[in-house]
Amino acid sequence: MWWSSRWSRVDASKTAEARALLQRAAAHAGGVCVFTGAGMSAESGIPTFRDALTGLWARFDPTEMASEEGFRANPQRVWDWYAERRDGVRKAKPNAGHRALAGFAIAHRGAVVLVTQNVDDLHQRAGSTDTIRLHGDILQDRWLESGACGGGCVALPGRPPACACGNLMRPGVVWFGEMLPEAAIEAAQHAARCCRVLLVVGTSGAVWPAAGLAELARRSGAQVIIVNPADSEIDAQAHVVLRGTAALLLPVLLDA
Ligand code: OAD
Repeated sequence: MWWSSRWSRVDASKTAEARALLQRAAAHAGGVCVFTGAGMSAESGIPTFRDALTGLWARFDPTEMASEEGFRANPQRVWDWYAERRDGVRKAKPNAGHRALAGFAIAHRGAVVLVTQNVDDLHQRAGSTDTIRLHGDILQDRWLESGACGGGCVALPGRPPACACGNLMRPGVVWFGEMLPEAAIEAAQHAARCCRVLLVVGTSGAVWPAAGLAELARRSGAQVIIVNPADSEIDAQAHVVLRGTAALLLPVLLDA
């Protein structure tokens, strides 16, 4: 049996199975771990990274735009690129998927741990609290050299802002080759290990160590549900794969 044509590729019985798994797991503290990626915000108008044509990495080179070497080679270009992306994030609004996740966590207090790779703030603006952010926050800045001037660098206006000592301001996201914030990845791994259901939404599963959460949850005995309109690199870890978008499927999976 299938949902109406709007749900063209979504199998209703699989959706019902996933819904039941989530409802059962939500009766337990930390029972549901949700792990989101760029596809979560796609219907809010924020481009993903790896979708063909529309993905940022189809149009820009990640080694130029998302690495320390790329930033040092052309700080102004990289700064301006992030400034443009920040504008897009500020103008975007949470979609029905973000709202469904926040509502589910409120309805099942203490049951849901939300882990995101996204650097936008749409989960937070939808009402999700205590979100574990693995890849940082695009709306924050930080110094490239954290210990310069004994930690007392002063930002002079510029693109990017810079200190007289030469230190540069950079966006507060994790770039390729950098470590994830230790507390965040440890908390995410703990949540994946302890949950009964891991709900994975809108990630290609191409970037580690974040992608390893699916295998970790499965090995620890959790049921893994994937929501994604396309194949991902971690589909093999899933017990249930739902081919649909976050804004369409999450309200169906998570309504009270
Ligand atoms: P990707 O761009 O790699 O993958 C996005 C996924 O979302 C794809 O699998 C799409 O099929 C899926 N998708 C697209 N539209 C969707 C929708 N409406 N609903 C649900 N899913 C949809 O993005 P991530 O997996 O998040 O790193 O990428 C991981 C990391 O790579 C990012 O955090 C970023 C990037 O380099 C940093 O910013 C540090």
